[in-house]
Amino acid sequence: MVSESPRTAGEMLARAREFLARKGTAEPRLEAELLVAHALGLSRLQLFLRLDQPVVDAEVARARELLVRRGKHEPVAYITGSREFYGRSFRVGSGVLVPRPETELLVDLARERAKGREGVRIADIGTGSGCIAITLALEVPSASVTALDISPRALEVARANAATLGAAVEFVEGDGPEALAAAPRFDLVVSNPPYIEPQERASLAPDVRDHEPELALFTPRGDPEHWLRRLLAAGMALLAPGGALLVELGHRQGPRALALAAQHDARLHKDFAGIERVLEVRARV
Ligand SMILES: C[S@@+](CC[C@H](N)C(=O)[O-])C[C@H]1O[C@@H](n2cnc3c(N)ncnc32)[C@H](O)[C@@H]1O
Repeated sequence: MVSESPRTAGEMLARAREFLARKGTAEPRLEAELLVAHALGLSRLQLFLRLDQPVVDAEVARARELLVRRGKHEPVAYITGSREFYGRSFRVGSGVLVPRPETELLVDLARERAKGREGVRIADIGTGSGCIAITLALEVPSASVTALDISPRALEVARANAATLGAAVEFVEGDGPEALAAAPRFDLVVSNPPYIEPQERASLAPDVRDHEPELALFTPRGDPEHWLRRLLAAGMALLAPGGALLVELGHRQGPRALALAAQHDARLHKDFAGIERVLEVRARV
């Protein structure tokens, strides 16, 4: 923002947009709206209805602080502390992956498969903010949902989200699907595992690379197939007969995922951008 203080919310918004454009952030217009609204304690819609409203020094200082953070490429969701997913607001913060819109496809597919069936058991491997598990628990109220993560920080945030959104989810701290081997079989095992390869690090946006947790982003030991193999073995072993494994894929993983799942009943689902985004594998009946 420039030196002379803005006098109205509208002026503040215009300056915020210019500032973020100069800093080269991804979406200066939208980000300015979200951050200025947050600084003023308003929704985006309320902000647009109050553009003529005068702003006080404390509000200008608060907006400036948020904009400076965004200017350093901190994700907007970490600055505001929340992100929308499937029409609900999820709390997020450092140490937890920001839910992505493409993950809604995995939820759609799981929801369709659970629909109309009583007492479906669902396991979410690598739950992060809990966005998948909590959404499924709320969308399919008769389901019983277990969510696993190795990160205590992620589980803390996921538990808080479940409490705020009123979702009944059982959270388990553990390492991969093997940690649920002793649980009764599941009808659906869903996972959005870390799938970025370490050599892709340089091409990632600084928001992601410098701020989001390594544990949530990168395939372990640089092995692009680590999670696919593990979910196809230990993840499939968690399924009841006729159950399904649904795994979110990186944008180039589709063909390899299908090849790895060749001895199973497997198919790929495309997202809105036409990218093969989810691998579905059926357990034998
Ligand atoms: C790509 S993030 C997905 C988070 C969330 N499900 C979502 O879609 O936004 C992957 C998650 O897997 C967790 N994770 C990484 N390694 C794990 C492991 N060995 N066992 C269990 N969870 C793990 C990370 O902590 C992270 O929360």
